[in-house]
Amino acid sequence: MKNTLLAFLLLIVLSSQPLLGSSQASPEQVLDIKGKNLRANTYYNVLLSMPYTNCKSPEGLGLSSNIDQPCPLDIIVVSRYQSLPIRFTLLNPKKGIIRVSSDLNIMFDSNSSCPYHTTVWKLDRFNVSKEKSLIITDGFIGAPGPHSIGNWFKIEKYVEGYKFVYCPSVCSSCKHECKDVGLFVDENGNRRLALTDVPYQVKFVKA
Ligand SMILES: *[C@@H]1O[C@H](CO)[C@@H](O)[C@H](O)[C@H]1NC(C)=O
Ligand SMILES: *[C@@H]1O[C@H](CO)[C@@H](O)[C@H](O)[C@H]1NC(C)=O
Repeated sequence: MKNTLLAFLLLIVLSSQPLLGSSQASPEQVLDIKGKNLRANTYYNVLLSMPYTNCKSPEGLGLSSNIDQPCPLDIIVVSRYQSLPIRFTLLNPKKGIIRVSSDLNIMFDSNSSCPYHTTVWKLDRFNVSKEKSLIITDGFIGAPGPHSIGNWFKIEKYVEGYKFVYCPSVCSSCKHECKDVGLFVDENGNRRLALTDVPYQVKFVKA
C-alpha cells in the first residue's frame, strides 16, 4: 500500500515537471472590457462595483479637493459618467502590456488645480498595519525602493473582473502587508479608496 502511494506521489511529481517549467512564463495579461490587452501609458476609465452584487451601474473614479487641505487632490468614487481616466506605468518601462501581479504606478492626467502635486496614486500611510490607509495622490513614478514603497500597486483577477491590491514586490528589504483596495467613507461622507478587506471589483474601459 505504502509503495503504491509512493509511486503515485512520484508520478505526480514527475508529471508536474512540465508545469513547473511553464510557470516561469509571464503572468496573464489584464484585459479591458472589450477583451483587449491593457497597455501602459494608455488612458482607461475604471468601472468600480462591489463584488457579487451583479452591479449594473458601476461607478468611476475622480479627483476632489478637500477644504481643509486643497492639495494634493483626493481620489474619490464618482458616477461613471464623471469618471476621470487613469493610466499605468510599469516597473519595467520597456514593457508595454499590463499583466496581473505586476508592480505598477497608477495616475490621473495632471490637474491644474494642484500644479505642484502629482496625480500619482500613493498610500497616505506606509505602515499598513497601523490604521486605515487611504489612497491619495502626490506619489511619484518609478524609483523602486523603500522611499517609493507606498506608490506601487498591482492588478489581480477577482470575481468577474479584477481588483487593485497593495502588495509591492519592488523592495526586498521593505516589510509590508498585502491588502486589497476598496471603499472607505471618510468623516465628511466622501467615498474614498483605501486598503480594506473587501475589494472593489474593477474593470477597465479604454478612454
Ligand atoms: C481636476 O481636479 C478637480 C478637483 O479639484 C476635478 O473636479 C476635475 O475634474 C479635475 N480635472 C481633470 C482634467 O482631471
Ligand atoms: C507598523 O505599525 C505596527 C503597529 O503599530 C508596529 O507594530 C510595527 O512595528 C510598525 N512597522 C513599521 C515598519 O514601522
